[in-house]
Amino acid sequence: MSEQLTLAIDDRTDPRDTKGGDDMTNRTASKVIHGDCLQLLMGGVERMTYHGLMPVVVTDPPFNIGYHYDGYKDNMPETEYYEWIAEITTLTSSVVVLYPESLHKLSMAKQEAPERVVSWVYNSNTAKQHRDIAFYGIKPDFNRVKQPYKNPNDKRIKARIAQGKGARLYDWWEINQVKNTSVEKTAHPCQMPVDVMKRVIGILPDGIGVIDPFCGSGTTGVACKQLGIPFEGYDINENYCEIARSRIEEATA
Ligand SMILES: C[S@@+](CC[C@H](N)C(=O)[O-])C[C@H]1O[C@@H](n2cnc3c(N)ncnc32)[C@H](O)[C@@H]1O
Repeated sequence: MSEQLTLAIDDRTDPRDTKGGDDMTNRTASKVIHGDCLQLLMGGVERMTYHGLMPVVVTDPPFNIGYHYDGYKDNMPETEYYEWIAEITTLTSSVVVLYPESLHKLSMAKQEAPERVVSWVYNSNTAKQHRDIAFYGIKPDFNRVKQPYKNPNDKRIKARIAQGKGARLYDWWEINQVKNTSVEKTAHPCQMPVDVMKRVIGILPDGIGVIDPFCGSGTTGVACKQLGIPFEGYDINENYCEIARSRIEEATA
C-alpha cells in the first residue's frame, strides 16, 4: 500500500476535543469537519470510543467513475481506489453503499466478506438501477425497522396489524433516488435519500456512533439526527461541509 494512503492522526483529533460539535455523549451530537478523511478518521474513531460509543463507518464513497464533484477528481487508478476505500472501511465495522461490481472488488481489497448485503433499487433512465449496501463486521437486525406487510388482507396479518405490528424489513429496498425536483435536493451532485440511510442506521445495534468519511451533503448525519445517534462526518470540499452542517442543524429528532 502506498504511504500516501495511510491513515494519519490529525492535530484536531484529541479524543476529548468536542470543538466544532457537541459533546459526543449527547445523542443528537454532530460534527462535520472539512478535510481529507484519511487525516480525520482515526481521530473520529478514538473520539467515539472515548465517549463509550462503538464507532461504525457508514458511507457512500466516491464511485471513481469521473463524477462531477466540485474540486475533487473522481478518477483514481482502479487498484489505488479500492485500496483507499478498503483502508477507510477496515479501521472499524462499516456499512458501504456502492454499485454491486464495485462492492465485490472492495471486498477483495478488504479481504473480508460482508455479514449481510441489501439491495437498494430505484427507477432511473440509466442502465444501473440498483446499488448494494454491505455490512462489514457488524450484523444488522432487520426486526428493528418495520414496514407494511405485503399481504394486509390475510386474516392472520390483519390481526397483527390491529396489534400495531409491522413486517420486518426485507433485504430489497425500493426507494427513489433524490432527483433535481426533489424538495430535499441540495447543490451536491449525488445526494443519497435520507430514507436509505435511516434504514441502514435503524437496523444497527444500540450504542453506536456513526462516522461518514465522505459525508457530502450530510445525508448520513441527517438520518442520525432523526434517529438520535451521534454523528461525525468529513468532506474534502468546504461547500459540501457547509451544506451538511445546515441540513443537520435543521433536521429534527
Ligand atoms: C458519493 S459522495 C457522498 C454523497 C453523500 N452521501 C450525500 O448524500 O450527499 C462522495 C463525497 O466524497 C467527498 N470526498 C472525496 N474525496 C474525499 C476525501 N479524501 N476526504 C473526504 N471527502 C472526500 C466528495 O467531495 C463527495 O462529496
